[in-house]
Amino acid sequence: MPERGISGLSQPIAIRVSGLRKSFGPLEVLKGVSLTAREGDVVAIIGGSGSGKSTMLRCINFLETPSGGEIEIAGEKMLMKADGHAADKRQLEKARQSLGMVFQNFNLWTHKTVLENLIEVPVHVLKVPKDEAITRARALLKRVGLAEKEDAFPAFMSGGQQQRAAIARALCMNPKAMLFDEPTSALDPELVGEVLQVIKGLADEGRTMILVTHEMRFAREVSSHVIYLHNGVIEEEGPPEQLFGAPKSERLKQFLKTVG
Ligand SMILES: Nc1ncnc2c1ncn2[C@@H]1O[C@H](COP(=O)(O)OP(=O)(O)O)[C@@H](O)[C@H]1O
Ligand SMILES: [Mg+2]
Repeated sequence: MPERGISGLSQPIAIRVSGLRKSFGPLEVLKGVSLTAREGDVVAIIGGSGSGKSTMLRCINFLETPSGGEIEIAGEKMLMKADGHAADKRQLEKARQSLGMVFQNFNLWTHKTVLENLIEVPVHVLKVPKDEAITRARALLKRVGLAEKEDAFPAFMSGGQQQRAAIARALCMNPKAMLFDEPTSALDPELVGEVLQVIKGLADEGRTMILVTHEMRFAREVSSHVIYLHNGVIEEEGPPEQLFGAPKSERLKQFLKTVG
């Protein structure tokens, strides 16, 4: 397995967030947070409920509109209007396509089969020839252990299977980086392992990813860098051995105790 974070500074920057701020009305949720993910990095974001983890992740692909700060995707600074909305639609589409997003609740289309879920965007938005999209989708389903499920509807699959299908769907876009928002927190405990195994496989093959998770052991195992968010501020960050093994902040120490 490649040593994470060693190739380090020579790798190109996949995602950079600088001084990101986000308010919902009077509520300031992110108070100037920054993050750099170079190619091959796995950045884990941890923190208590409501600390701003999802908002931070969602601002990266403009699912939320930043209130301030800068975002750079694959070397391109995202052009923003004064109100934080993306200023260049083409640039935004390109950035979104290069970021595969996986949500807590899978977000599969319920009226489509697994295969249809996987080929929908490639065929109808990206205009990939259908047989090519199907070939690719099947290979990815095999990869996540769902070769037999291409004709199944999400409602007839377990949460673990649905989430693996959602990961395969994100991979169909051939993204430069993957964004995971608590991908296992809606799953029954016995189904968590199969999803983590797929994510671990992606990390091992050198995929760039940002992973919001409350699976601390997993974060320690797969990440190259960990960010601990508290009240919209990065309270502490560093390599996993340091953050989990020798945390400095009292708050982080407390947090790690409560999450076990
Ligand atoms: N769309 C929204 N409108 C208003 N408040 C929101 C919205 N999304 C999130 N928040 C608030 O922002 C804070 C951070 O939320 P979130 O980023 O989801 O935290 P986390 O993912 O760390 O649990 C919470 O107080 C939440 O209630
Ligand atoms: Mg969240």
